[in-house]
Amino acid sequence: MAHSSLTFRIQPGGTLQGDLRVPGDKSVSHRSIMLGAIADGTTEVSGFLSAEDCLSTIKAFRQMGVHIEGPEDGRVRVHGVGLHGLKGSEAPLDLGNSGTSMRLLCGLLAGQSFDSVLFGDESLNRRPMRRVTEPLKTMGAVIETTAGGTAPLRIRGASRLHGIAYDMPVASAQVKSSLLLAGLYAAGETRVREPAPTRDHTERMLTGFGYPWRRDGDWIAVSGGGALHGTEIDVPSDISSAAFFLVGASIAPGSDVLLKHVGTNPTRTGVLDILRLMGADLQVTAERVIGGEPVADIRVRSRPLKGVVIPERLVPLSIDEFPALFVAAACAEGDTVLTGAAELRVKESDRIQVMADGLAILGIDARPTPDGIRIRGGRLRGGTVDSHGDHRIAMSFAMSALRASGEIIVHDCRNVATSFPGFVALSAGLGLGITASSGAAS
Ligand code: S3P
Repeated sequence: MAHSSLTFRIQPGGTLQGDLRVPGDKSVSHRSIMLGAIADGTTEVSGFLSAEDCLSTIKAFRQMGVHIEGPEDGRVRVHGVGLHGLKGSEAPLDLGNSGTSMRLLCGLLAGQSFDSVLFGDESLNRRPMRRVTEPLKTMGAVIETTAGGTAPLRIRGASRLHGIAYDMPVASAQVKSSLLLAGLYAAGETRVREPAPTRDHTERMLTGFGYPWRRDGDWIAVSGGGALHGTEIDVPSDISSAAFFLVGASIAPGSDVLLKHVGTNPTRTGVLDILRLMGADLQVTAERVIGGEPVADIRVRSRPLKGVVIPERLVPLSIDEFPALFVAAACAEGDTVLTGAAELRVKESDRIQVMADGLAILGIDARPTPDGIRIRGGRLRGGTVDSHGDHRIAMSFAMSALRASGEIIVHDCRNVATSFPGFVALSAGLGLGITASSGAAS
């Protein structure tokens, strides 16, 4: 497919100041469409993230016969077709860059009466899918992957699913959610154990749709055969998008930023804990619960950071925020050590290697290990880095310019649109000296 490349150029130095509300939470937005589609009745969503990943989910459900209005100003109306109302799509479902869409849909579609084919872009088609297809097969699903266990995925319909008890080898909310969604279609109870707590938006949202589930220690269980009832969902701002400003304002002297209406679900706030351990000045105020999800305002003011050994228990709770945290570590006094984070190697890019390569170009001593990295804080110089098409890496390096001695150029930033539309304008509005330019893809 012909597409243009996008390059960020960021002037060195500056401060971040002002109030902002970053776009809606990606995980919650995906789930609002998925559960809304298989509910009885209408679901009204506000604060929806109109970014490419969530639009891929909307498009897939439209292809399966669901009438979805919007998104318009963050509002989406999903006309649910009920648990058994989806229709097979003639065309394969293109899920773009979105791992959440592919893994959750794999579980949801394993229990349908029709066949489905799922594929994605170059990055998504490289990512491991056996982590969902293998346990789904033990539930009775029939799914084909490539020989390497990647997409395209061919899911056979009319399989009779039955509940299993699955002890997950990796702490993954996508795997957990995929199995719970398959469990809605399975005979008996589907139980999943998480080795460490992972984001629980699926469980909270099932409650919002009136579908029972239960937690028993580390085990989460649903039984098939119930019904979901359309509801209202107010999507909080994405703490993963807020993270770029939490780091940017922490590292740029003189900064003072108020992030409003940020989702602060405790399964997502590892980034706050890690930044606090590093000495960051964060104030969480106006804490409230909206539609079953905790929300707060977060004020961040710059303060010198120090390197830390990141506790492994915080890794799943901040899994998407490590590219930004690595930039914080590069600006901190001393060494930051991350272990127990091998999952970072199979995200939209190998986030350990790609960040280490970029930080090295900027003059930072960053040593990757199989399951983490050691970063020695230092002086960042200007330079040209490549995001490898990874949205979170592009935005993290953009923030690093706040402490660099020369201009930073970041290549391959087009995928910022998968999670954070308006990033350039919002960050420029706060004081980042960023411009974006497009050209033909090389
Ligand atoms: C997500 C879970 C996480 C996260 C991803 C979104 C979700 O993946 O990295 O961006 O919405 O469930 P894993 O569960 O595979 O760690």
